[in-house]
Amino acid sequence: MPRKLHSGIFHPTLRKLQEQNVQLHSYNLMYPIFLIENDDDAQDIQSMPGIQRMGINKLKEHLESLIPKGLSSILLFGVTESIPKDENGTAADHPLNPVIRGLPKLLEWFPSLLIACDLCLCPYTSHGHCGIFNKEIGLDNEASINRLAEIAVNYAKAGAHIIAPSDMMDNRIKAIKDALISHGFEKKVALLSYAAKFASTFYGPFRDAAKSAPAFGDRRCYQLPSGSKGLAARAVERDVDEGADMLMVKPGLPYLDIVRQTKDMYPNIPLYVYQVSGEYAMIYHGSKSGTLKLNDVLMETIISFRRAGADCIISYFTPLLLDLIAK
Ligand code: PBG
Ligand code: ZN
Repeated sequence: MPRKLHSGIFHPTLRKLQEQNVQLHSYNLMYPIFLIENDDDAQDIQSMPGIQRMGINKLKEHLESLIPKGLSSILLFGVTESIPKDENGTAADHPLNPVIRGLPKLLEWFPSLLIACDLCLCPYTSHGHCGIFNKEIGLDNEASINRLAEIAVNYAKAGAHIIAPSDMMDNRIKAIKDALISHGFEKKVALLSYAAKFASTFYGPFRDAAKSAPAFGDRRCYQLPSGSKGLAARAVERDVDEGADMLMVKPGLPYLDIVRQTKDMYPNIPLYVYQVSGEYAMIYHGSKSGTLKLNDVLMETIISFRRAGADCIISYFTPLLLDLIAK
């Protein structure tokens, strides 16, 4: 595939990510959001104290308080209730999906905000796995990547700036990139690959938040084994070859060596690291108990991500971090 650059630099925030340094600026942070169907509702999440699932109107108020502090990018996760989960993940790009409905409003309200959409089937399939199943062959990779590409195009049509596939199906990056280009999004949408995503027990709290736990089995046949370093390198290489504009390592703290390895392999590609729900819970509870100083321990972990080579950190602590940067 010919090498393309424009889809990674069309937005001012994306361009800033091409500058490499180790200080923390507000544009080095991306804030994950759980968006629900009921526009005026906000729900506490038991496994992630301090974080809420929000409807679009509640989110508007929340973002209005953060954007003046420098918030420049968000990552949207849709959480559906009324749209039935099925084999095909119909709810992922249903007209009533809160991400599909919310994107045009967010673009209108916050024109400078960079908006990424997580792309996966697990919150929307009846079995809670990240791909499509076929009775004869089990996980059907071909059907899965075709469906993911279709959803990606629908998120792009709704206005997403970044598509972030977290499913880990083989060759999804090429399928999604080709679909985006053939639908006219070549210069308008960036592809952020969850390239080195490990099968991790640190995702536990998130699966409660996003209602995306698998009904049977686990994700070990498509997410990386936690001891694998060479396979992580191959996954990253593959996704770069298939057209990823940006890369991600996930989780963060237990995989700092992989962050460094990935940055060394591709110093010229913006690298994201996801400080996942279990890392959030660890820091939250450690400091709630009085054992750790929240602000200090948080800042130290964030700087470790920057030092290891991360250009952008996806963190549930973004609101607090914006306050700390301002100090
Ligand atoms: C869905 C997805 C997961 C996370 C992001 N997207 C969970 C999983 O793969 O099981 C984890 C995020 C977090 O733990 O904060 N594929
Ligand atoms: Zn998934």
